[in-house]
Amino acid sequence: MTNKYIYFIANWKMYGDLKSVNTLDKVIKFSKSNKNNKFKLIYCPPYTLLSSFSSKLKKTNIEVGAQNCHEHETYGPFTGSVNSKMLRDVGANFIIIGHSENRDQGETNLLINKKIKDALKNKLKIIFCIGETLYERKNKKTHKILANQILLGLKNIKKISNVFIAYEPVWSIGTGLVPDSSDLLNNINFIKSFIRSRFKYKSPKVLYGGSVNPKNINDLKDINDIDGFLIGGASQDSKKFIDIVKKTFI
Ligand code: PGA
Repeated sequence: MTNKYIYFIANWKMYGDLKSVNTLDKVIKFSKSNKNNKFKLIYCPPYTLLSSFSSKLKKTNIEVGAQNCHEHETYGPFTGSVNSKMLRDVGANFIIIGHSENRDQGETNLLINKKIKDALKNKLKIIFCIGETLYERKNKKTHKILANQILLGLKNIKKISNVFIAYEPVWSIGTGLVPDSSDLLNNINFIKSFIRSRFKYKSPKVLYGGSVNPKNINDLKDINDIDGFLIGGASQDSKKFIDIVKKTFI
C-alpha cells in the first residue's frame, strides 16, 4: 500500500465544539510532512463546525467534507435541513452519503441516490457508504447486499469518477471488530469489479471504514486494494489520527 495515494477521512459524527478547531494544529503541522503527496486528509465535522474548519484549513492541503445533506438540491421550506449547495458555500468539497447510522434512521437507497445526484451537481465529491449487517453476513448475503446498494445508490449516475465507495460493514462500526484480511480483500475486490463492469469505470476508489485504529492499521495497510480509510472514533484524537497515517507508510 505504501506506494500509492491514500485517503484518510475523519468522520467526527456528532462530536466537537468550537474549541475542537484547535486540535487541528497538530494535524496541520503533520500534513506538511506530506512532501511526496502520498496521502490526502479530509475532515468531516458536524455542520456547525464546517465553516470554522474550512477557515482553519484554508491554506493547507487538508480538505473539508460534510456528513450528510438534505436531498432537495436548492433552497426550500425544509426546517432544520441543509442542502449540498449550502455545504459547498461553507467550504465543503466532500460529503459522506449513505452512512449506516443514517440508513438506520430510515434513509433509503432511493433517498441516497437523490442526495448523491444533487451533491454531484453541486460539485461535491461523494464518499458513498455501503456495508452489510452481521445478520446478512452470517447468511452469506454480503455481495448481494453490496451490489444492491451500489446499483440503487448510483442509479442513473453516468459519471462516477467523483464517487468514492466506503465499504463499512455495519457490524464493525464503533465495535472494535474488523473483518479478517482475506474477507476484506474479497469484498473490496468484489466492489471494484462490480463497479468496473456495471459502470464501465476503470479505476474505482474503495475505502475501508469500521473501527480503524493505530493498532489494526498495521494489518489493514497491507491490503493493497484499499485506497484509504474512513475513520470515526479514532479521528477525533489528533494523535491517533496522525499515528494511523504514519503507520500506513511504515
Ligand atoms: P468508527 O466509525 O471508526 O468509530 O468505527 C467509522 C464510521 O462510522 O465511519
